[in-house]
Amino acid sequence: MTVPVLSALRGVRESSVVTALEGAGGRISVTRRCADLAELLGAAAAGLGRVALVPDDLPLLDREAVVLLRESGVRVVALVDGGPRATERMLALGAEVVVDAGAPVADVVATVLSLADPGPGPGTAGVRAVGVAGALPDPAGAPAASDAGSGDVPVGDSTVGDGAAPDGGAEGPPVPPGRTVAVWGPTGAPGRTTVAVNLAAELAALPAPGVAGGAPGALLVDADTYGGTVAQVVGLLDEAPGIAAAARAAGQGVLDVTALARLTPVVEPGLRVLTGISRADRWPELPASSLDLVWETARGLAQWVVVDCGFCLEQDEVLSYDTHAPRRNAATLSALAAADVVVVVGGGDAVGMQRLVRGLSELADSGVAALARRVVVVNRVRASAAGRRPEHAVRDALARYAGVDDPHLVPDDGPAVDAALLRGATLREASPRSPAQASIAALAARVAGVQAHPPRARRALRSTVRG
Ligand SMILES: Nc1ncnc2c1ncn2[C@@H]1O[C@H](COP(=O)(O)OP(=O)(O)OP(=O)(O)O)[C@@H](O)[C@H]1O
Ligand SMILES: [Mg+2]
Repeated sequence: MTVPVLSALRGVRESSVVTALEGAGGRISVTRRCADLAELLGAAAAGLGRVALVPDDLPLLDREAVVLLRESGVRVVALVDGGPRATERMLALGAEVVVDAGAPVADVVATVLSLADPGPGPGTAGVRAVGVAGALPDPAGAPAASDAGSGDVPVGDSTVGDGAAPDGGAEGPPVPPGRTVAVWGPTGAPGRTTVAVNLAAELAALPAPGVAGGAPGALLVDADTYGGTVAQVVGLLDEAPGIAAAARAAGQGVLDVTALARLTPVVEPGLRVLTGISRADRWPELPASSLDLVWETARGLAQWVVVDCGFCLEQDEVLSYDTHAPRRNAATLSALAAADVVVVVGGGDAVGMQRLVRGLSELADSGVAALARRVVVVNRVRASAAGRRPEHAVRDALARYAGVDDPHLVPDDGPAVDAALLRGATLREASPRSPAQASIAALAARVAGVQAHPPRARRALRSTVRG
């Protein structure tokens, strides 16, 4: 069977490669020689190719473009002319195979033919490098050694993933990759941000397994595309939206632990913050294809990555468009898909409980966090809203209507929460030993007992969720 190939190569190399492909005994046909990325994406969407050849300097090529090609059933081969850095960048963008531009054209032909064989499909990690040397991170940012699934990948000193020190590569004992906690909850301001901020602070203060002399560190990320407030809560006023910058760097294939560390100020000992988008209309700057890499990179920077999510799980765009459409809730959905633990927060009053019960069933129906362990938190538990025995009433209602028999209850604690808000600090810092602080510290201990999921399983879930 003939393999249809789309070429976006340019210059002298273009004609020699195309000639070699066309001369491969009829096994390959170059169906479109594209002048730019737009033409390549159009040809891919029209189903004209199964393999795309792209140069490393193709203008506007980013992770989102590679995702679009893969979603069109096209496998991406990058021809690199820019040495190891260009190779790393193309793999970070998601190219499946990287071929050195100086390699014989026969290598390109062989590569195209090998991709036509049944193998790992789009979205899986079938990464290979032909004729190039250097550090090759997995396209999804996971450690190549354990997970790339291809024996012929030279494994170098990737700055992302296993073994990367929290300071971006300093000498020291190997640090296990961090775990991701997505803090989600239904609409109605049940306290997602309050729980996320303080859970991150408490996790940051836990001793690090296997790391001598100190806290493992936590990274708090604001991924609420409707009304992110983490920057204000931790007293980081006038901050540029760090998550947009991180997503941009990921989209261009230049995000690593060091770059992420630069975008995440330390607000309290061991606690870094990646601020959210300041205006809700900036959500298109946060595509899932980039954020997936942000989550993976974050695991190399901190032992705990705590993500404050938006409330909405809808994927209307998938129903409304035949073609790929930007997703308003991509940040929340990708964080949930990457999570080892999902903390579901509901409010401790009649309305909050009803929304929580409905929210738990929406979350289960979405399948988006199927791998994650779920911890249900009822926040602001108080007698004035739940009766004389509020804890009993909350547990009873959750067991009866949602089958949840072990919720974690956080008391309503206006004085402590307000004092922290006023100072722009965490409860641990502003209101230590307050009832709310003690409760969230206990929640952190519970969350810390949860095991991480292997990266391969996470990726499988992500591709399932996106259909
Ligand atoms: N345990 C608590 N005791 C008292 N007040 C609380 C508690 N938790 C949260 N609050 C207050 O409730 C309000 C809403 O909390 P928060 O901003 O954390 O909710 P949210 O779910 O993130 O809301 P949004 O939908 O706006 O993102 C805030 O004023 C916060 O200070
Ligand atoms: Mg919030």
